[in-house]
Amino acid sequence: MALVTTRDMFKKAYDGGYAIGAFNINNMEIIQAVTEAAADLKSPLILQVSAGARKYAKHAYLMALAQAAIEDTGIDFALHLDHGEDFEICKSCIDGGFTSVMIDGSKHSFEDNIALTKKVVEYAHAHGVTVEGELGKLAGIEDDVNVSAEDACYTDPSQVEEFVEKTGVDSLAIAIGTSHGAYKFKGEARLRFDILEEVGRRLPGFPIVLHGASSVIPELVDEINACGGNMPGAKGVPEDMLRKAASMAVCKINIDSDLRLGMTAAIRRVMKNSPEVFDPRGYLSVARAEVNKVVRHKIVNVLGSDNKA
Ligand code: G3H
Ligand code: 13P
Ligand code: ZN
Repeated sequence: MALVTTRDMFKKAYDGGYAIGAFNINNMEIIQAVTEAAADLKSPLILQVSAGARKYAKHAYLMALAQAAIEDTGIDFALHLDHGEDFEICKSCIDGGFTSVMIDGSKHSFEDNIALTKKVVEYAHAHGVTVEGELGKLAGIEDDVNVSAEDACYTDPSQVEEFVEKTGVDSLAIAIGTSHGAYKFKGEARLRFDILEEVGRRLPGFPIVLHGASSVIPELVDEINACGGNMPGAKGVPEDMLRKAASMAVCKINIDSDLRLGMTAAIRRVMKNSPEVFDPRGYLSVARAEVNKVVRHKIVNVLGSDNKA
C-alpha cells in the first residue's frame, strides 16, 4: 500500500455522490485515530498537514508517521498540504513526498492567484502530485483577523471556468459561507447552495472542496464546558448541509476543529474525573479513542465514504 494522489478517489466520489474526509493531523495519536477509522470502515482518506502542523511536528516525523500508518493499517491515502501560501512551501512538500498540495492564492487578485496556482500546478504535475486551488475567501483564521462568517467573500461562479482552465488545478476550494474554527455562525447556519450548484453546472465532473466544514459537535462542546472549558457560542455546519454538499459536486470535506474538540473533551474528562492520572498515556489513549469515534461518525453519517475504498 502507498501514498496516492487524489485523482482517482475524487473521480469515484464525484460519480458516487459522496465526499472524502480530509482530516488535519498534528501528532501520532491523531494519525493513528484517523487511519484506523478509515481502515476499519474501508473508506478512502486524505490526511492533511497545515504549515503550523509541519512546524509543530516537523516534516520528517509526519512523513515517517504516515508511512508507519500505511504499514500498520494496510490502506492507501493521500498526504496533502493544507493552505500552502506560496510556491516554496508547495515545492518543499512535493519534494518531501506529499502526494497532493493546496496552493491558497485566495488572498491575491484573480490574476495573481491564477499565475501562482499555475506555477504550482506545473511543478506538481511534473512530479505526479495533484493540486487544489482556492477561489473566494473564507472568513476567519485564514486572514488572521476574526471577521464574522457573514463577511466571507463568496466565490464568484462566473470566474471558475477561467480559473480552472488557465491553472490546470485538479480540484477547487470555494467559499459558500463556511469558516474555519469553532465559531462559524452567529445566528442560523446558512450556506449558499445556489453558488455550489452554479459552480457544479459550470464545471461538470470537476471536484469541489469545502473548507471550514466541522459541525462543531454540540455534545463535545457541552462536555468541554462541563469539564472546566469555556466555549460559549461555539457553532458549526449542520450535518444535513454537509451531506447535501457531498451529494453535489463537493468531493473533499475538510475537518480539523471537530478532531480538536474530541481530543480536548476527552482530556478534560480524564483530568476532571481522574485527577490522580499523570501518565500521558492515560489521557492520550482516551483522546485517541475519542478522535477515532469522531472520524467514524463523519465517515458513516456525513461523508458517506464507508466501503468505498
Ligand atoms: O484551515 C486550517 C486548519 O484548521 C489548520 O489550522 O493552521 O492551526 O494548523 P492550523
Ligand atoms: P474546520 O475548522 O471547520 O475543521 O475546517 C478545517 C479546514 O478547513 C482545514 O483546511
Ligand atoms: Zn481550510
